[in-house]
Amino acid sequence: MALDRILIVDDTAIIRKSLEERLRSKRYAVSTAGSIAEAEKRLLASSFDLIFLDMQLPDGDGRVFIERLSHNDNKPLVVMITADGSVESVVECMRSGAFDYLPKPFAMTQIDLILKKAAEFQRAVRVTDFLNRESIAQREIIGSSPAIARLKDLIHRVGRTNATVMISGENGTGKELVANDIFLNSQRSAKPFIKVNCAAISETLIESEFFGHEKGSFTGATDQRDGRFELADGGTILLDEISEISLALQAKLLRVLQEREFERVGGNKTIKVDVRVLATTNRDLLKAVENGTFREDLYYRLNVFPILVPPLRERTGDVEILSNHFLERFSKEHGIKSCGFSEVGMAGLLAHHWPGNVRELQNVVERAAILAEEGVPISAELMGLASPAATATRPAVPAPQVSTNPPAASQVIPLHELEKRAIFEALERTNGNRTQAAELLQISIRTLRNKLAEYRVDSGEVA
Ligand SMILES: Nc1ncnc2c1ncn2[C@@H]1O[C@H](COP(=O)(O)OP(=O)(O)OP(=O)(O)O)[C@@H](O)[C@H]1O
Ligand SMILES: [Mg+2]
Repeated sequence: MALDRILIVDDTAIIRKSLEERLRSKRYAVSTAGSIAEAEKRLLASSFDLIFLDMQLPDGDGRVFIERLSHNDNKPLVVMITADGSVESVVECMRSGAFDYLPKPFAMTQIDLILKKAAEFQRAVRVTDFLNRESIAQREIIGSSPAIARLKDLIHRVGRTNATVMISGENGTGKELVANDIFLNSQRSAKPFIKVNCAAISETLIESEFFGHEKGSFTGATDQRDGRFELADGGTILLDEISEISLALQAKLLRVLQEREFERVGGNKTIKVDVRVLATTNRDLLKAVENGTFREDLYYRLNVFPILVPPLRERTGDVEILSNHFLERFSKEHGIKSCGFSEVGMAGLLAHHWPGNVRELQNVVERAAILAEEGVPISAELMGLASPAATATRPAVPAPQVSTNPPAASQVIPLHELEKRAIFEALERTNGNRTQAAELLQISIRTLRNKLAEYRVDSGEVA
């Protein structure tokens, strides 16, 4: 609940008293004022989330006061207390910017309804603000490999449930994209989607980021603040890079996952939320459990539905479609006319190991789109691809199949890999002329053809 501090402005003592009692019994922080002058003083001393405001006060008209309040940065919601519930006076209240009205005499149940409405309204406003700042990059998952088809099927199936999903994979494989898609496929897609990057927030602030804090609960906590679990109430929360949180916070997170409840930092009110949890990790969490850096019970709470996003080098079938997709997107974004990749350029893309996965591919293509000259296809060289594969006759010359684990610098490069590199290097130098390439390699044209056919079989391409 985002509603905490309430001011009652009414010159009738009995109304102030009965309202105050009701609100206090519901644990709100309440102040009262009998006039506009007094209300102004209270507003100087602290801020309020909601004001019950009498329309007629001894020192002025409540509606004029609302008008003044509307210039405040953090303007409170105003509920007008009207002497009668006539249509005219209700219209007047709303026109002057009141959130709601309360005709005298009123029943306590009316107060409760107004509070509920105001709390929901405030939360919606905060969530909208939050989403505007951290806009969800709604992007489609591109790919034609069987791995992507499987991934999409899993997303579709688990999306519609409320199950906790643990998305793992190397850097830049598209984990966040998968999380977005699960959210968009869920019944909660119209509700908030709140992300917390556990790796980007400092250890001292992360608890408050998760659960919020009360005013004065630590140095710098000048105001009460809702945490992301509260903002996500009714919707979905994404705990990005979950492996990065401390053991102390893991214990608190476990409680939220089990009970869906927590307290704000420095607070003692238990807050209940209805939140669907998605998490991502690029580290092996099971290993972290073995090492004692990640709680086993939390691991099992999170790992209800695991999804593994495979590295790009294990689905080279996606490279071409992704490259073309990014080129089209960035050409549009930067207002560039592109005429695609050269065949050698595409072969270079297909041959690369992509240790940074799709993000690296995306960056390479964006840079190339900017550097490309109009009318000139993008070459491997322009993309700075180190050991480009080359051919002028693709698809007759396939992408060399990349080994699952690229050799580390200190490792020996397998002979067949060296051979492949030499062949593509020769083709690059001769602009794909096989006869000349064969000469450079000091092999027969027939051997060259056989080698190329071999690579094609390796990479799963059919001639
Ligand atoms: N299959 C895909 N189709 C289109 N774009 C993709 C795909 N996979 C990843 N991307 C893009 O690549 C970039 C990296 O993806 P994302 O941020 O989801 O990866 P990540 O696995 O969360 O990375 P990290 O581990 O570094 O946080 C994003 O800009 C994303 O839009
Ligand atoms: Mg990510």
